[in-house]
Formats: sequence, C-alpha cells, structure tokens
Amino acid sequence: MMYEMQMTIKKLIAGNWKMNGTLADAKALAIALGAPSDKVEVCVCPPYVHLGTVAVTLDPSVKLGGQDCAQTANGAFTGDISAPMLKDLGCSYVILGHSERRQYHGEADKTVAHKASKAHEQGIITIICVGETEAERNAGIHNEIVMKQLSESIPATANAQNLVIAYEPVWAIGTGKTATLDDIRDMHAVIRHFLQEKLDNSNSIRILYGGSVKADNAKEILAVKDVDGALVGGASLKADQFLAIINAA
Ligand code: PGA
Repeated sequence: MMYEMQMTIKKLIAGNWKMNGTLADAKALAIALGAPSDKVEVCVCPPYVHLGTVAVTLDPSVKLGGQDCAQTANGAFTGDISAPMLKDLGCSYVILGHSERRQYHGEADKTVAHKASKAHEQGIITIICVGETEAERNAGIHNEIVMKQLSESIPATANAQNLVIAYEPVWAIGTGKTATLDDIRDMHAVIRHFLQEKLDNSNSIRILYGGSVKADNAKEILAVKDVDGALVGGASLKADQFLAIINAA
C-alpha cells in the first residue's frame, strides 16, 4: 500500500528564478516553457514584480510560486509581500527558508515556521528548504543540522498536502558542485524518516534535491530513492535547460 502511494507521487520540478531578469526576460521565459510534460508537476518562482505578468503568460499547466512571504497577512511591513498577495496573483507554491534568505536576511527556523503557517492559511504549498553548510558537513554534523531545521521550520499547520521539503546543501547552490548520489540518498532517507515520525501520509510528501541541478546531472539525481523532484536555480533561467531537466524526470 505504502509502496503504491510512493509510486504515484508526481515529481515536482520547481524553478527558482531568484533576482534575475527584466520583465521582458520573464515573459520570454514563460512563453518559451510552453506546455511541459504532464508526467511531471512544474512550478516557476519569478521575482515578485514579475509574478502578475508571468501568471497571465504561462501555460495553465505550469504552477506559479513566490520566493518568500511575510510572517503577517498585512500591515506596516515595508518591502514585504504577504501570502494573501501571492494567492491573489495565482501562486500555489512558495519557497521558504531558502539558504539565501537564511544567510542574507538572518531568517531563523522559527521565522520560516511563521511564514509557512501564513502560507498554509491561504492554501499555498510551502517548499521549505533545509541544508547544511560545507563546514557542517566537514564536521560530520549535517544530519543533526538538517533535523533541527526540519523540526523548527515546519509549523503545526503542515500536512502531506501542503508541504514539500527541499534539501539544498548550501555549498552546492550556484557553485557547480553537487552532492554525491550517496550523500543525496542518505540525507533524503533521514528527511523521509523524520517526516514519517511527525506527519500522516508522509510518504506522499515530496522531497526535492537542489544545488547545481543541470540538464546533464538531472537524470541520475532524480533516479535516487526518495528524490521526488528538484529545486533548480541557475538552470531554470534557460528554457532549453529547464525543459531538459523536466524531461529527465
Ligand atoms: P542552483 O540554485 O541550481 O543555481 O544551484 C538552487 C537553489 O538555490 O534553489
């Protein structure tokens, strides 16, 4: 039964465009993606200011996501964008706790949990990112670090329908270095086990790998046990590369 459930999860390929591109670039990329394979769920996360345009340009089969959201629904929070605003623009996903948010904006696990609960209130699926730094891996404490991030970043509102986890070793993001297939398998097994202990139907929660996923390594990474998709940065900015990753899934 569990095996069957595992087999029916559609892989999710999410593109994190980060802070890249003009409005014209975003529109051209959305058009170039066309209608990708329906065997895979595809989501793109453009910069906030491009969301409205991308929303009306994308093929309806491609989901839209935000790259972050605020801890509150509205109010005097200059520069922030709330989960209801993302919902209003048609976002069904939001990336939370990306290591760049943790590193450059000082986001703590508890902040991520608050943000995630606000997204869940809107029915938005949260892609909660976890991952160790190179120093933490070298010190052999990567499992403990990721387990702590999981236990403190996932709010009580999370369930098998509204939660996706992205394992992104910090040292692999944008560096061209990827974790070895063994390291990816081991960490995804740790995350799966954690989810099984905490949540019902946890085998249907997708665990993505992220960190220098490219057209030429996607197939082998996506074949690793418990890798249910990928969170793609750099390679999601080129339609041909992103489509090749989608097709590799
Ligand atoms: P990358 O980024 O694919 O450019 O390494 C991944 C991410 O940050 O989500």
